[in-house]
Amino acid sequence: MTAIATAATCRLGVNVDHVATLRNARGTPYPDPVQAAYVCEAAGADQITIHLREDRRHIKDRDLEILRRCVTVPLNLEMAASEEMLALALLHKPDTVTLVPERREERTTEGGLDVAGQQPALRAYVAKLRDAGIVVSLFIDADVRQVDASAAVGAATIELHTGDYADAATPTLMRKQLAHLEAGALRGHHLGLAIAAGHGLTARNLGPVASLPHVEELNIGHAIVARAVFCGLEAAVREYKAAISEALARP
Ligand code: PXP
Repeated sequence: MTAIATAATCRLGVNVDHVATLRNARGTPYPDPVQAAYVCEAAGADQITIHLREDRRHIKDRDLEILRRCVTVPLNLEMAASEEMLALALLHKPDTVTLVPERREERTTEGGLDVAGQQPALRAYVAKLRDAGIVVSLFIDADVRQVDASAAVGAATIELHTGDYADAATPTLMRKQLAHLEAGALRGHHLGLAIAAGHGLTARNLGPVASLPHVEELNIGHAIVARAVFCGLEAAVREYKAAISEALARP
């Protein structure tokens, strides 16, 4: 029997969007996502992730500009594949750009990017980012067509959408979604892609995802910021780092 190794480590990208959501709810300068990023880094976050949406509902241009200058771990900018966002990415040069689908009326990113359905346009778009030295990740459903298309358009990384796994109503459905994610991770690795995962992950459900073969990075936002309300951001990030370590230590 061939054993497929779990990645030796799994990085934690902390998404600080919802610190900005709280700030924007009252139009105050606080809480500041820049200050949050400092705290996350000090607590061991391996990456800071932000999503600059077209409607600027949480992260604003000013946040991107300052975070780019202050963050010392890699900065991952999630954005739609629009001309406006391309210009901002080329100006601020985040370490990674994660391309996500975006609809104004959605509450959060629903579903993965349809890479297979827009290959020529995405190939050109990805090339512009890569030429600027930016690592390009595509946020996709763990679907073979989407994984293959991601490799074909020149992405370096795929981030597998874990929303359906997180929302699964029964253990059976959860196992089914996990098997789907595993197949996507194996296919992506086979094609030379790095594998990340994210969306809807919590300290309770992240273990099986962190333990999937080849998964090197989890991006988590809402659950960490929610936990921080009760125990502070530094403690929340430490808890999530510990949860990942525990999952990887399990035989
Ligand atoms: N990864 C991507 C690509 C996302 O769009 C989001 C949500 O902004 C996340 C991870 C984090 O999801 P959550 O806030 O549910 O942890």
